[in-house]
This record gives sequence, structure tokens and C-alpha cells, in this order.
Amino acid sequence: MQVSNQTSGNAGGMPHWSSRFAFIMAAVGSAVGLGNIWKFPYMVGTGGGSAFVLVYLGCVLLIGAPILIAELMLGRKAQRAPAEALAHLGRVHGGTAAWGLIGVMGVVAALLILSFYSVVAGWAVAYVPEMLSGNLDKATAEMTGAAFGELLGDPMQLLLWHTVFMALTVFIVAGGVTGGIEAAVTWLMPLLFLMLLVLLGYAMVEGEFAQGLAYMFKPDFSALTPEVAIAAAGQAFFSLSIGLGTMLAYGSYLPRDISIPKTAVTVALADTTVALVAGCAIFPIVFASGLNPAEGPGLVFVTLPVAFGNMPFGLIVGAVFFVLLSVAALTSSISLLEPIVATIKERTRVSRLVLSIAIGIAAWLLGFATIWSFGDWSDVKILGDRNPFDSIDYLTSSIMLPLGGALMAVFAGWVLTREDLWHELGFDSRAMFNLWRFLVRFVAPVGVAVVAVNKILS
Ligand code: PHE
Repeated sequence: MQVSNQTSGNAGGMPHWSSRFAFIMAAVGSAVGLGNIWKFPYMVGTGGGSAFVLVYLGCVLLIGAPILIAELMLGRKAQRAPAEALAHLGRVHGGTAAWGLIGVMGVVAALLILSFYSVVAGWAVAYVPEMLSGNLDKATAEMTGAAFGELLGDPMQLLLWHTVFMALTVFIVAGGVTGGIEAAVTWLMPLLFLMLLVLLGYAMVEGEFAQGLAYMFKPDFSALTPEVAIAAAGQAFFSLSIGLGTMLAYGSYLPRDISIPKTAVTVALADTTVALVAGCAIFPIVFASGLNPAEGPGLVFVTLPVAFGNMPFGLIVGAVFFVLLSVAALTSSISLLEPIVATIKERTRVSRLVLSIAIGIAAWLLGFATIWSFGDWSDVKILGDRNPFDSIDYLTSSIMLPLGGALMAVFAGWVLTREDLWHELGFDSRAMFNLWRFLVRFVAPVGVAVVAVNKILS
């Protein structure tokens, strides 16, 4: 716990990113991950295509990006870990420390997300040897479907990769976030993007490219239900890593001379581009190989191997791709563990190492629910007709993150003063600042509320 009662400035011995570039890389590393390449495409598929994509884009622009700015700002202003940051700012700025509860909810959400994130990242790791084995050479959709089914049907293997991935996450967070990840994201994320472009090229030549594009972008709102709108909004929060304190924690490590709005726009743009490119690479292949776009969480794992199995040097390219995807997942998973560790560390005397391990074990254990959701527990229903994995995903992405994000927007927009915000944010123009403030005061909370009410009434 920090003794300084300054509400801004580099007080309090927070570690800091070594440069603006390093910070952008870390924030992009957090945002870009399985959410873009695994989750976005399958949610587009189950959400009926363009209806989902267009609502998603609207949410990123009008709600997600403004909240990203707000969250980074709150972290830098408070110079504290998420829960304490909000409690502290609440106390100082006339309100109440109860605002800290948003941070507590965020910690719970982060733990739940980390539990399934590590399992799915384990799938990506498992696909590295799978590619190299040659089993998927000249793969057809039947072959890739069978291979994925086999993986899911083997809990011991899933457990092994889940364990490996969680151990890596713990290892990096225990060592301190500002050190380890900078190097990884500086080189490996651009490489991952390059590989996606290769896949996009394959999809253009070999896939049903026009059909894929039309599926994603040709406005068709017949599929738009409250469920789809909630899922799309939730996915925007999940993909941008907002609503649970990740960006707040990262913002607290942000030097004061960096423009938050510019950084946030860069992060949102990079995140959205990667998701869209992944979608544009995947759907043409889905249609060309007669796969079902609404296949669900296995979509990328049955689609991309078809491309890898049939392109020159594809199995090597595929193995490298899954290594990079695993790294992208790692730079996100550490950003889930970090805010939990930071929050608890600030309130106790327990060391970073012990906390990282203890929380890692908790998330690892919770991950069993996801592993078995794709096996013996697939018929166990928890929330409505959702299996344990779907329930955790729904509870976090569709409820906790939008709620947490909207409350942070309200806090930034209504509790902090205009002058405070102006000084902390460093907008270039008053007009942009006013627009941002309007979005966090009205559009973000009202948007989230409208979607929620629609859902409750439907
Ligand atoms: N944004 C990450 C992804 O898209 C997941 C994540 C969510 C990370 C929330 C941190 C916080 O993969």
C-alpha cells in the first residue's frame, strides 16, 4: 500500500515502461490475443455474420475506445493497482471509496477469464507438434475436424498444455511485467501479423473470398437479436482488454509525458485490424471447404489447418503460426494475471512471487471446468443452457466486463472534473476532448444499459 496521497504524478515507486513504444507494445500485446484470432471469428460465425461484425465495430468505436482512454487515465492518475486506484480516486474526489468495488469485480473476472484462456491457449500450443507431425498434410475439413475432436477428447493432453501455459504466465508475471514482455511483443507480434497476411493471401487465392467478405460485411441485420448485440458488445470489451482493470494496471505504469488518447487509438486500431484480418482469412476457407461457420470454439482449429495442409511448406508455416499464436496468448494472459497480483500485493505483505504462484494455481484449478466442458461435462448446464465454459465466458464477457467498463466510464465522466480530465489526458484539441467526454458520460453507459435492458425484456 502506498503512503503518498498524490493523485497524479510518478509518485509511489510504480515500475514504468521504458518508452512509449514499449508501452504500446505491451498494451497491444494484451489486447491482441486469442480474442482476435480464436474468439472473434467463431463469435462472428455463431452471431450470424455481418450483424455481429457491424455491431462489434460500432461498439469498439463509440464505447470501447473511449473506455480504453478512461481506464488508462484512471490508472495513471491514481498510480495504484486497480481496486485501490478506484477507491483512492473515489475518496479524494468527493465520492466514496466504494468505487473500488469495480476493481474487486474486475479481479474476479480476470481470474475467471484466465482459467479458460489458458486452456484454449493450450490448444494452440498442442497444434505446434500436431502440425509438425505431418498428420494434417493435404488435410481436408474431415481430417482437421477429426484431429481437433481427438485433442478435445484427451483431457490429459489438454491438462498438460494448460499446465505448461499457466506455468509460463506465472513465471513472467513473477518476474515483473515491464521487463519480460517488451521483447516478446516487439518482434513476435509483427511476425504473427505477417503470418495472418500470408493466410489472407491463401484465402484470396484458394478460398471463397467474395463470399467470405459478404458474410462479414454485407449489412444483414436479420440475425440481429439482443443476444447477438450483447455478445458483440462483450467481445469488444474482451478484445480490447477493458472493463476489468488490465488497462488500468498498465496505465499506472505509464509515464506522464505520453499522450493517452493517441496510444489508445493505436491499440484499438491494431486490435481491430488483427480481428478483421483473421476473419477475412478464415471465412473464405470455411466456405470453400464446406465447413460450418457456426461451428463454435473449434472454428480456427479446424479451418486454418486446411490452409496449412495444402500450401507449400504449410506444415512448417502452420507450426510457426501456432507458436506465434501461443506467444500472443501469453502476452494477454500475463495481463490477466498482473492486475490480480498487483491488487492483492498492494493490500498484503505477500511477495509477488508467492502471489503469482498462488493465483496461477487457483486459475489453473478453475480451468478444469473448461477442459471438461469440451468432454464429459458438455451436457452440464449452468447458466441457462450453457455448459460450464460457456457460462464463465458469458458471465465475464457479456456481463462483468461491460458493467465494469460502463461504471469506470461513469466514474471518469461524472465524478472527475473536466479540468482534471483535461490535464491528465493530454488531448491535442478541445473538440476531441469534448467528444470523448460526451462518449464516456452518455454513450458508453447508456449503450451498455440499453443492451442490458433489451436482453432482460427479451
Ligand atoms: N484482449 C485479450 C484477447 O483478445 C484477452 C484479455 C481480456 C486480456 C481481458 C486481458 C483482459 O485475447
